[in-house]
Amino acid sequence: MQSWIPFIPESASTISGRVDALYFYLCGVTIFFTLLISGVLIFFVIRYRRRTPFEIPRPLAGSHRLEMMWSIIPFLIAMSFFVWGTKIYFAQYRMPRDGIEVYVVAKQWMWKFQHSTGQREINELHVPIGRKIKLIMTTEDVIHDLFVPAFRIKADVVPGRYTTEWFEATKPGRYHLFCAEYCGMNHSGMGGWVVVMEPTDFDNWLSGNVNQQSASTAGQQLYQSLGCVSCHGANAEGGRGPALQGLFNSQMPLNNGQVVKADENYIRESILNPQAKIVAGFGPIMPSFQGQVSEEQLMQLVAYIKSLSANKTETPNAKPPVTTRSSATPESSGSK
Ligand code: CUA
Repeated sequence: MQSWIPFIPESASTISGRVDALYFYLCGVTIFFTLLISGVLIFFVIRYRRRTPFEIPRPLAGSHRLEMMWSIIPFLIAMSFFVWGTKIYFAQYRMPRDGIEVYVVAKQWMWKFQHSTGQREINELHVPIGRKIKLIMTTEDVIHDLFVPAFRIKADVVPGRYTTEWFEATKPGRYHLFCAEYCGMNHSGMGGWVVVMEPTDFDNWLSGNVNQQSASTAGQQLYQSLGCVSCHGANAEGGRGPALQGLFNSQMPLNNGQVVKADENYIRESILNPQAKIVAGFGPIMPSFQGQVSEEQLMQLVAYIKSLSANKTETPNAKPPVTTRSSATPESSGSK
């Protein structure tokens, strides 16, 4: 919208107009006071210049009212930055409940995207207009940072954990995405495009790429092949590990008395470093899977475990997670 102003990128998300409004307000306040102070300064320099060689200035008694005024007004202006900025910050960085999840794995020097329906992309992300897109991000090597100027979103992508950001695009088009954290030789080349499409075009795009299995199906296969099933079985009775249905986003009591929320980072940690947080009532017997699963496979396992928790997350086209009914597979239907 502000693309007629040089250096201001296009405004193409629900949050970008709000960010710009605050930005212009900050600029306006800055310009106003710069002009006011330099104007008054020049005026006083001329008005109160020394006119005779031995002129003695008139002494001034202080004014409490004046001092109060020039303390309270700047305080209120500074607080307006703070309150306005905080509101936008929370809108920008608190993840919405509903929305389409996309897994992002960064590596030197590319961006890998996986849709929950299975489509994978490199350096390009296709999304529909008017839907909240939640990016769940990690990296295989160093810190990167996913930055889409047109959406006014930017967040670090950190090894060893998941970080998130979200946006809702408002206009179809192609928008540049950048890596905004210096990450080595080809940092400047680590970019790509977000392609925003009308919903029908997006559905066509999705159905033109259906040959890949969904993240949760891939995760389910890993769950079988890595032998997770032997401890985290369909029902926890006699199971050596906690059952996985309904686990995602639930409160897990630990054997040290703490309670943690079983979010993406918790599940990830429990796969790589099982001894870190042991669920109450279970022994420290799980081996670490560090080095045995890639970041993408970890995300697939997380996606599978999520899919076992009813419909706490929305998937595009409302396809339910695929669960085959082998004897070892927990059934998600009974877990609500
Ligand atoms: Cu990745 Cu800079």
